[in-house]
Amino acid sequence: MNSTSEQDSTAAPTTHGRGCNVALLGFGTVGSSVAKILCERPDSDVRLTHILNRNVARKKVDWLPSSVKWTEKIDDILSSDANIVVEVMGGLQPTEDWIRRVLSSGKSVVTANKQIIARCGPELISLAAQTNQQILYGASVAGGVPVISGLQSGLAGDELFKIRGILNGTCNYILSQMESKGVAFADALREAQKLGFAEADPTEDIDGLDARAKLTILARVGLHCNVDPETITVQSISRIEAIDFEYASQLGCTIRQIAGAEISSAGLKTGAEAEQAHAERSSLLAAVGPALVALSSPLARVEGSQNLVVTTGTYGGETVFGGHGAGGHPTAVAVVSDILAIAHSKQAGTSTGAEDLKASASKTPSAKTSQVSADYTAKHYLRFFVKDQPGIIACLATILSSFDINIDSVLQKPGCPKTRLPFLITLEECKASLVERALRQLNVLEFMVEPCLHLPIL
Ligand SMILES: NC(=O)c1ccc[n+]([C@@H]2O[C@H](COP(=O)([O-])OP(=O)(O)OC[C@H]3O[C@@H](n4cnc5c(N)ncnc54)[C@H](OP(=O)(O)O)[C@@H]3O)[C@@H](O)[C@H]2O)c1
Repeated sequence: MNSTSEQDSTAAPTTHGRGCNVALLGFGTVGSSVAKILCERPDSDVRLTHILNRNVARKKVDWLPSSVKWTEKIDDILSSDANIVVEVMGGLQPTEDWIRRVLSSGKSVVTANKQIIARCGPELISLAAQTNQQILYGASVAGGVPVISGLQSGLAGDELFKIRGILNGTCNYILSQMESKGVAFADALREAQKLGFAEADPTEDIDGLDARAKLTILARVGLHCNVDPETITVQSISRIEAIDFEYASQLGCTIRQIAGAEISSAGLKTGAEAEQAHAERSSLLAAVGPALVALSSPLARVEGSQNLVVTTGTYGGETVFGGHGAGGHPTAVAVVSDILAIAHSKQAGTSTGAEDLKASASKTPSAKTSQVSADYTAKHYLRFFVKDQPGIIACLATILSSFDINIDSVLQKPGCPKTRLPFLITLEECKASLVERALRQLNVLEFMVEPCLHLPIL
């Protein structure tokens, strides 16, 4: 093992003959798996040459070739002979600045960082094009599932208008444990943390922020809609209780955290207007949160930490991508695939960042900036906890009917405590905003123990 070493070359590296040199930023779960795969590959198309990590001494391992240089300084990487820099440190800063500096120094980037790509992906792609480099981010959505390349290449010939998926393994693990074992949310979360499926601070996952970043990237790549991630509505899974799985099951459904985006032409009267809205991609329906999914749907069968993405296209109909959405090795597979794609294009001398951008612009429409709304039309699940007294259903029904909302069914599990009595009302199809307006009146009624849980039934 070598100690920290600086190279004196400041010029952009070139690929001499066969092979590309790879530098890793971050030697954690994904970084160490990437290193392992690169070192175990039989061919030498790509060579791991540098690893950067803070407090690097404690990170060194004995299974890497002694030629690999370890460092704590980004300047060592910038001035090195690495052609491709793999960012698997995570976080927003200094990571974003370092990615910009790497691209500006004439090196390509592979990243697994969904938050950075969701926030400033187009800017970074454009910077890469200016410097004749590439930035690939296949691992940023659904870990080892090749959904980004599937959308960019495999489905480029279709006109996709809807993407729906289970993009967060932590939430899926918690919800599928609650479903199969009937345990409370807090117990399922504790178990997930014990097994390493959930972080010590699980907020990003539970509250939907992780899935929202991934949905932003999918909407950009698959639907050609550029949206600000902050404008996508998120709902936490933390209010789901064991009773909700009992009610869902009576409706032939289960509950999953669903991230969905759909090009919207809602409210437009003529076919021509709808076609125009579709072409302009000016409006996107998008949301992340728990939802009821039919037991017959592929989304209901996603167990544990698996991910699944279902796309719908005008010509090809539904396509399903599924597999390991996280974990060192599966995510590293996506990273290494991106490294190889860049290495091969560099070796063939065919594809610089600028050429890629032109090529993809001629193949697919570029992403347009879209307004986001969460005002979907669906059937709705309303679960109440009330202090029992006569006339509750009549009171709720009166308010709902004043909004022109039709009740589909009412379910009440017998034998529950009268001081916190759970019951369910399902609604016929209507807009989510209408239900929310009605709930503002319902939630303040004196018999309500807590605000109603409102979920879409997909
Ligand atoms: N793990 C997955 O299953 C998965 C799946 C898909 C995408 N990703 C993405 O992949 C990236 C890496 O995830 P991970 O799970 O491998 O994280 P990780 O295990 O925490 O590894 C990150 C590594 O980067 C180092 N690091 C962090 N900030 C640094 C800084 N400012 N300077 C130098 N070194 C720094 C950390 O050092 P310390 O040891 O000092 O913390 C650690 O070794 C993230 O963007 C994540 O969202 C992960």
